[in-house]
Amino acid sequence: MSLTSLGEGRSGSVRPKITTLTIQEKKQRHEIITCLTAYDYATSRLVDEAGIDMILVGDSLAQVVLGYENTLPVTVEEMLHHTRAVRRGVKSALVIADMPFGAYHDDTKEGVQNALRFVKEAGAEAVKVEGGVKRAELVRRILDSEVPVMGHIGLTPQSLHKMGGFKVQGKDLSGIEQLMKDAMALERAGVFCMVLEGVPREVAAMITHEVSVPTIGIGAGPDCDGQVLVFHDILNLTFLPPAKFVRRYGDAAALINNAVQQFKADVQSGSYPADEESYHLPKETRSALDAILARKQPARAREKQLAVGR
Ligand code: KIV
Repeated sequence: MSLTSLGEGRSGSVRPKITTLTIQEKKQRHEIITCLTAYDYATSRLVDEAGIDMILVGDSLAQVVLGYENTLPVTVEEMLHHTRAVRRGVKSALVIADMPFGAYHDDTKEGVQNALRFVKEAGAEAVKVEGGVKRAELVRRILDSEVPVMGHIGLTPQSLHKMGGFKVQGKDLSGIEQLMKDAMALERAGVFCMVLEGVPREVAAMITHEVSVPTIGIGAGPDCDGQVLVFHDILNLTFLPPAKFVRRYGDAAALINNAVQQFKADVQSGSYPADEESYHLPKETRSALDAILARKQPARAREKQLAVGR
């Protein structure tokens, strides 16, 4: 194994580079796959160093980073910008870029070109597209261009308006049938794994059993081959009540709020910056400066006296 295929974790331990093959082998070995979103250098570095298998630069960045109400407004250029930052922070995890709304919906050729941009210009190792049967041809074409694809079915946030809201999918028999068709179509088209979002756990379990590629669940229960969550959700950074499936592992909002308030109080009280947090002149410069100031002082005092006498 070459050194460039190894990534060094926080503890100094080295883990092998995760590839799409690693992810597929994990399903065969019944090893659970972990995935988190990240959108910048610092967080992607932390997520990678914590040993997560895949980092998804999700279009959820539209909401959690850019403050939009849904994922629809984020552009290819914005996604490229954040994917580049994530790429710089990651050594081992597989980096997947989410293709935003409008980047592949109209024209397959444009979809392929955008997928290529994520690899060529931002260093992504795979792209994700939402949709099943209707995206099968696009998935094939992207794969023909040598770019691995992660599928995404169930509650697909880019279909928000068509779905009539963020609704759990596959709750009735025809919904289940459609999801099965979508999963099979993606498998046949060649995705290396697929996200199952917002589907009943029984349905996610059936799909996971049926398809040979790994399923990565979000709001899809515990029987998927892996799980993905949004980084900001697990750390209370969304300013919204969490969805049913979110588990919070920390309160970064409280941590940040506390740190910022302490900084403000320290600046206002004059306790920040302290002497040891300040730069100092070298000794020789200090004595030369003191000598100059001492010579100037009597002259200044005389000037002041004259001014008072006038
Ligand atoms: O954009 C995103 O974060 C996603 C995942 C949650 C699957 O699509």
